[in-house]
Amino acid sequence: MKYKYMSVEELKKLEQRLNIEYENIKTSNLSLDMSRGKPASAQLDLSNDILAKPIDNYITSEGIDSRNYGILDGITEIKTLFSSLLDIPNKNIIIGGNSSLNLIYDAFARLYIFGADGSEPWGKCKTKILCPVPGYDRHFAICEEFGFEMINIPMTDEGPDMDMVENLVREDENIKGIICVPLYSNPDGICYSDSTVERLSCMQTKAKDFKIFWDNAYAIHHVYKEHKLANIFSLSKKYGTDDRIIYFFSTSKITFPGSGVAMIASGDNYIEEIKKHFGIQTIGHNKLNQLRTFNFFHNAEGVKEHMKKLGDLLKEKFDIVLNTLDKEVADKGILKWNKPDGGYFISVFTLPGCASETVKLAREAGLVLTGAGATYPYHNDPEDSNIRLAPSYPTCGELQKAIDIFCVCLKLATIRKLIEQKEQQ
Ligand SMILES: Cc1ncc(COP(=O)(O)O)c(C=O)c1O
Repeated sequence: MKYKYMSVEELKKLEQRLNIEYENIKTSNLSLDMSRGKPASAQLDLSNDILAKPIDNYITSEGIDSRNYGILDGITEIKTLFSSLLDIPNKNIIIGGNSSLNLIYDAFARLYIFGADGSEPWGKCKTKILCPVPGYDRHFAICEEFGFEMINIPMTDEGPDMDMVENLVREDENIKGIICVPLYSNPDGICYSDSTVERLSCMQTKAKDFKIFWDNAYAIHHVYKEHKLANIFSLSKKYGTDDRIIYFFSTSKITFPGSGVAMIASGDNYIEEIKKHFGIQTIGHNKLNQLRTFNFFHNAEGVKEHMKKLGDLLKEKFDIVLNTLDKEVADKGILKWNKPDGGYFISVFTLPGCASETVKLAREAGLVLTGAGATYPYHNDPEDSNIRLAPSYPTCGELQKAIDIFCVCLKLATIRKLIEQKEQQ
C-alpha cells in the first residue's frame, strides 16, 4: 500500500515495527560502504596481468625508448588504441597521467589562468558553468574551488534540458561552459540522445571561448544494454565548433583506478594550445604504464572483451539493488529510481525532504552512503531527494545487507516525515 494513503495511526504502528528492526540492525555493529564508485577486488583481479606480464620490448613502434624522457602526447600505440575505441582522430588526442579528474582540474586551471583562443582568462570574468543535475560531486568541487558560479540544469531522459541550455548560452557571455557525463551519467545513468549531442555541437553561444567538458568516463561501461553515443567530434567538426570540445577519458574503471591511463582530446586548434601548456608542465607522462596497458589489450576489441567481463560482475550487483528496491519499496510510493543500462551508479529519489534523514539513519546503523546533496552544486539538493547508490565495491553478501538496511532507513525516514506532515494538516 502507498504510504501516503495510510492514516497517522497506521503509520505510527508501522514506525514502531520498523524501529525495532532498525535498533536490531544497530546492535550488529555493521560497517558497510556504498558511497563511492570503487571497483571491487574481483574486478581489479581481471587486470592483474598488466602487472604480472613483464615488458619485453621497451622500444615503441616509432623507435622511442619508453624508459626514457620524451613524447609529450603519449606513445602511438596507446593513442591509436584510444582513437579507435572512441572514434577520435589520433592527432586530437593527448595521453595524460593516471587520472582524468586531474586533467579536468588542469583544464579548468588553464582556462582560469590563461583563457583560451586568445580570450580573457576565466579567472578575470564572472565565469559561470552549466551543471546538469544530479551530477558528479567532484566536478562541482572543482568549479567551486575556482569560484565559478554553477547553474543547475535539470536532466531529462535525453540528457540536460537543451531548451534551457540553448537559451542561457545564447544570452550570457559569462556562461563559459557546461560539464557533461554523456553516457551512463553519474549518477543517473542517463545516455545523451543523438539530438542532445547535435544541439550541444551546433548551439549559438555568446561566449566565444565556450567549452564543453565532455567527461566520457563511462564510454564503454555497458551492463544491461549497449548504448551508442553520437560522436561529438564529428558533429562539432561539421559545425566548425570542434575547439569547443574538451574530451576526457581514462582506464580508471577499466583497469586500476588511480593507476590507469587518462586522455584529453580537443579540436585541431585548441589541442595545440593545450599541448603548449603541457610542454611547460611536464616532459612527458608515464610511458611505461601506457605500454603495459597497450600490451594487455592490444587493440580496441581487447578492451571491449575485457569490459564484458567487468559488466557481468557489475550486473550481479545492480541486480541485487534493483530487485531489492522492487521487492521492498516499489508498491509504497516512497522512492523513484533509474534502471541504468550501464555506468556505476543507481540514482534514487526519495519523497521531498527525506534524503538527508535516510542517509543519517543509515550512517548511524553502520552503512555509509554518498552524502545527501552531494550530487548538486554547493551540496544543495533543493528537494532533499536524490541519493546516489554505488553498488560496485561491497561483496554481493555485503551489498544485500546494505540495500536491506537502506530500505529500512528510507521507510523510517519517510514515515516520520509523513506523520509530521499529516499532524500539521
Ligand atoms: C564522471 C567521472 N569522471 C571522472 C572520474 C574519475 O576518473 P579518474 O580516476 O580517471 O580521475 C569518475 C570517478 O568516479 C567519474 O565518475
